[in-house]
Amino acid sequence: MQSKFDNKIKAVTRQVVLNQYMKFAESVFKKNEDLTAYTLPADMWTFEQQIVDHALYHSNTKSELNLTCFECDPATYKHNTDSRYFMLNGNELHTRLNFEYKFDFMHRNLHAKKNFFMWADFCGCPTQERLDMVLNKKNLIANSLIFVTFACRWRNCYTIPKTIVDMRDDLFAHDLNPHKSSSHHASNAIQSYMHPLMKPFGFRPIVNLEYIANQGGGATSMCVLGFSNSPTFNRTKFFRKTLNWFKGVTSSEVREVQNYLDIQACLNH
Ligand SMILES: C[S@@+](CC[C@H](N)C(=O)[O-])C[C@H]1O[C@@H](n2cnc3c(N)ncnc32)[C@H](O)[C@@H]1O
Repeated sequence: MQSKFDNKIKAVTRQVVLNQYMKFAESVFKKNEDLTAYTLPADMWTFEQQIVDHALYHSNTKSELNLTCFECDPATYKHNTDSRYFMLNGNELHTRLNFEYKFDFMHRNLHAKKNFFMWADFCGCPTQERLDMVLNKKNLIANSLIFVTFACRWRNCYTIPKTIVDMRDDLFAHDLNPHKSSSHHASNAIQSYMHPLMKPFGFRPIVNLEYIANQGGGATSMCVLGFSNSPTFNRTKFFRKTLNWFKGVTSSEVREVQNYLDIQACLNH
């Protein structure tokens, strides 16, 4: 069965996260240090398979990859348990991989003292509970890279911090572009909420992507935000793109070309 996360735009955003992870992991493995990664694979595992392969490629170093994946939906968890070779006990390829698949809500980093990676690919609203988990200072340790994915349209969601809603509304009220909806300002509002809480730990925003993954009635606008305090990104400029979103501003041909160029920029970032 095809996963609902298996679509082109989601693949592009996943690749942006993966590209930044690769730069980060290279720098950790070069120092023969261990890396701890927490992710939410759902039924895709594309990202996780690639970071495991990347660790395997570096298996001549002394580094270990501690990968913990979480799933809170019982059916998804059951269906995906032991579904990949690297999950099986005693597989000889991955002597430097410590893998755990937890039937649990994603929690803060429990063990790493540095070199922590998290992709909290929630795709739901930026609730206080989710933000508190991500912003827990046990995650904000030296040389770390943190990505979140949140929905940008918030209907019937009452647990979003008021500051975020107010910031979004304020940005919307001052936007002179009549084609932009308030959800266009959600990603900036979430980033503006998170950054000051991460800044004391040396983090800065490195990526902000707004996108609509699928077409049709179920299409929800999302954003992927990335923050890091790793010196690996010291020379990297903040990367901001909007994919597959604008409607009504230009002709569909112009939008298609723009989208193509933005996708290429993402794949190469
Ligand atoms: C958007 S999907 C992940 C997609 C995947 N990362 C990809 O690359 O396509 C989110 C998955 O995480 C699960 N999930 C959502 N919130 C969670 C949480 N707080 N703790 C654990 N699992 C969660 C959902 O049930 C779903 O299977």
